[in-house]
Amino acid sequence: MNQASPPALRIGLGYDTHRIGPARPFLLGGVEIPWDRGLIGHSDADVLLHAITDALLGAASLGDIGRMYPDTDPENKDRDSGEMLAEAMRRVRAAGWEIVNLDCVVRAQQPKISPHAAAICARIAEILAISVDSVGIKGKTGEHVGPVGRQEAIEARCVALLYRS
Ligand code: CDP
Ligand code: ZN
Repeated sequence: MNQASPPALRIGLGYDTHRIGPARPFLLGGVEIPWDRGLIGHSDADVLLHAITDALLGAASLGDIGRMYPDTDPENKDRDSGEMLAEAMRRVRAAGWEIVNLDCVVRAQQPKISPHAAAICARIAEILAISVDSVGIKGKTGEHVGPVGRQEAIEARCVALLYRS
């Protein structure tokens, strides 16, 4: 590959962790999931939307969610993660990129993700204005080991593939 013909595809990786705390609305991928615990965070703590936002910004070389919305800014307290993702996508499109697909893993000992996966995919597709079959969501336990397995935290990872639009 030479410098004169830059690649028309870009891959991005996003990762996020939030600590489990007392009951609070549990938002995952923009969908509220019934649970007797919640995730701790400066914003609404939607760990999956944060990972997706970072994957998209990373793929387009546009930095990360913390650079867009510093957690030191009181304005960002309880900020809607869907709004942050939509703004990231506006920037990605403005830079000339469109999504091929996203694939995500949520690591949670509890609750089960699979019953909510279709609703989460639909909500993410709606926020990003892409086709629902471009979004994959999978749940995985922590096999009772590590911070996820001991139910101290929930993690999300996302890979995003972009094409030059
Ligand atoms: O069976 P294996 O050890 O590979 O995975 P697991 O972590 O025990 O999870 C088994 C299956 O449960 C996953 O493939 C998901 O379909 C589902 N799962 C889920 O929906 N939500 C979770 N938080 C964890 C697992
Ligand atoms: Zn986060």
